[in-house]
Amino acid sequence: MHLTRFPVSSLRGTVTVPGDKSISHRAVMLGALAEGTTRITGFLMGEDCLSTISCFRKMGVEIDVSDEQVVVHGAGLHGLRAPSELLYTGNSGTTTRLLCGILAGQPFSSVLNGDASIQKRPMGRIIQPLRQMGADIDGKDGNLCPLTIRPASLSGIRYVLPVASAQLKSAILLAGLFADGQTTVIEPAPSRDHTERMLRGLGASVETDGSAITLTPPETLRAVDVEVPGDISSAAYFLVAGLILPDSELIIRNVGVNPTRTGILDALEAMGADIERLNERGEVEPICDLRVRSSRLHGTEIGGDIIPRLIDELPVLAVAAAFAEGETVIRDAQELKVKESDRIAAMTAELARAGADVRGTEDGMIIRGGRPLHGADFCSYADHRIAMSMAICALACEGASSIDDPACVAISYPAFFDTLDRLQHNE
Ligand code: S3P
Repeated sequence: MHLTRFPVSSLRGTVTVPGDKSISHRAVMLGALAEGTTRITGFLMGEDCLSTISCFRKMGVEIDVSDEQVVVHGAGLHGLRAPSELLYTGNSGTTTRLLCGILAGQPFSSVLNGDASIQKRPMGRIIQPLRQMGADIDGKDGNLCPLTIRPASLSGIRYVLPVASAQLKSAILLAGLFADGQTTVIEPAPSRDHTERMLRGLGASVETDGSAITLTPPETLRAVDVEVPGDISSAAYFLVAGLILPDSELIIRNVGVNPTRTGILDALEAMGADIERLNERGEVEPICDLRVRSSRLHGTEIGGDIIPRLIDELPVLAVAAAFAEGETVIRDAQELKVKESDRIAAMTAELARAGADVRGTEDGMIIRGGRPLHGADFCSYADHRIAMSMAICALACEGASSIDDPACVAISYPAFFDTLDRLQHNE
């Protein structure tokens, strides 16, 4: 299916984006391992997080889902049951990798697999450290899904992460819950720290010393209720739309602004964006409302430690760069090649289709912005973030565009097009 999109002259109004995907996954996983009941409000009802729920139900965890909340009846650290069938993780890298860390320490065997995209994504990065802990894991061709995990006893390790990946860090820490002795991971650059924050909230000892994070395996985890803030990765589409369209002003409510996730705000501000943080609040996870107004953007250089802090926002940042004056260089972002699609190749091809001056590099993109772009038939590569980024691009192109496979946005933002349509009509 293709969805036709037309340019708009401005966007004004208020948006509440759906719950944070990373925090929603972790609330179900840690809720399942805790003693007691976890009530999760603001849970992201996207396909990825529903995959996490489905996997834990297959391991005997009772999870009630209603419009208002998700209630996880914790099984305790040693209460998961052997699944009678394969654990299917859909399109979700977070489900696959974090779950693998948990499964490595269970007294039963399991098999994990996902969709065509998941079957191409590198799993050697988790297999290797988990094996060092004593885990018995095999992947297809050594490095790919399906993954087969058999019972084993684990010991804590000290592991220097070869990539700044929160999925890898979290997989090791979650395996560490079931290991003898402490587990330490050392990050090359700070990645999102939702696992560490939530583990501490459940009573576990997670200490940070510079770039080293050490978990001491707890006796038990105590369930606490979780309020999931809005996902800054979803807010990013509206931030960029509000910036590149003239005469626009948007308020995005209840956005999670954990400092390990706010690289997008820093990068856009470096490009000249007018973004204000209002009503800052939140305890375990900081939250605020964001006000964005149309701005004359200019090019910038994005690389180094900021990359893990905005990794999922780079596709839409490339759209902002295409409408900014001058050159934007994105480097150190080779991880983009192993996301739901090769996001360097995808964004380079799709922005070029609209007439942008863009070149893909080994580790990023060089975009010379400022020329008018024209509508085109955009390809989403079955990747939710490419579909949403090109939908934002289409708003500022001359002439009509189309997006193929628009339904893939349901991975992280099922109501994305409805919300965009509502704003376009200033409702
Ligand atoms: C995530 C971590 C990031 C991110 C993904 C969600 C998480 O991946 O791209 O969408 O929830 O831990 P990496 O940590 O592998 O870069």
